[in-house]
Amino acid sequence: MSLIEHLRSKIQQSGPIPFSEYMEEVLYHPRFGYYSSLRLPIGAEGDYYTSSDLDPIFGKLLAKKFESMAEGSDSFTLVELGAGKGSLARHILEERRFPYLILERSAAMREHQRELLKDFDVRWIEDLPRKLTGCIFSNEFFDALPVHRIRRRDGVLKELYVSGEFEEIEGDLRQPIELPLKEGQTADVNLEARAWIRRIAASLDRGYHLAIDYGYLHDEFYAQPHGTLMCYRRHQAEENPYAHIGEQDMTAHVNFSDLMDEGIRAELPTENFQTQMNFLIELGILDRMQQLATAADAASLQRLLRIKKLILPGNMGERFKVLVQRKGT
Ligand SMILES: C[S@@+](CC[C@H](N)C(=O)[O-])C[C@H]1O[C@@H](n2cnc3c(N)ncnc32)[C@H](O)[C@@H]1O
Repeated sequence: MSLIEHLRSKIQQSGPIPFSEYMEEVLYHPRFGYYSSLRLPIGAEGDYYTSSDLDPIFGKLLAKKFESMAEGSDSFTLVELGAGKGSLARHILEERRFPYLILERSAAMREHQRELLKDFDVRWIEDLPRKLTGCIFSNEFFDALPVHRIRRRDGVLKELYVSGEFEEIEGDLRQPIELPLKEGQTADVNLEARAWIRRIAASLDRGYHLAIDYGYLHDEFYAQPHGTLMCYRRHQAEENPYAHIGEQDMTAHVNFSDLMDEGIRAELPTENFQTQMNFLIELGILDRMQQLATAADAASLQRLLRIKKLILPGNMGERFKVLVQRKGT
């Protein structure tokens, strides 16, 4: 059976499914899902790049941030959510050997991580630990969670469902929500993200949550008329989530205001929210770039070009944001 056959038979049995369920199946079905294939989605051979893929400096600077967070603690554990290929973990651990846990739902990704991290002391976990002193962090984790597609139609909020012909149908909301949508406007709403913030807050005894992702604050998020869902295949953006089913990544911008609001309710208030550019500049990326520019050999200059992408405003520098939330003192 293929993913498409599986989806059709599911929809035949239950009727049209909410888009969030479609996204969940397409990305994470344990047999047919996009993230279940052993083909690597991240990197030159895959569909998209992440910051850790561009250059090890990203992980090395993050390690510096974790070192400053760990000051004064006897033991400080890192928990990475959705570790992809494992490159970020490797770059961080090459810099400093923190106790390191990975929570990764895809078995195929765990395989890749085990291979890349075989020389390091990393443990894979099924659930967040209790009474943690440390930092739970992620890069491009929240944007990969399934979203609900919600539209205002005739003054009423409707949820989008997917039919057996892979067409969108407006239906009743699965759960009551209120959103500031104009007539005809669509939003891609990540309800799971809020649940993750509650889980993270409950896991931490003392420490931090750090999330790096692309996204907006509330006003900009709801200024998008058609939502923010986007698909990526072989480094090309594709707007249609029903094209190349199971062979393209699907993501949506993070609404960081949601994460911050939920954090306040869960006693995990925001300590800092800034662009990736400012975050990396504070950690000293410009000095490292200067060293490469001074060296001026071909390899250094090539690295410099890749590193620039991490901080350029039109590139990852401003589209990506860094949220730091803190529990306890
Ligand atoms: C876009 S990739 C980011 C990979 C990596 N952090 C990087 O920067 O290259 C998203 C990762 O999150 C994982 N993931 C998605 N949902 C998850 C969940 N609910 N629990 C754990 N891992 C999850 C995916 O399998 C994948 O490894």
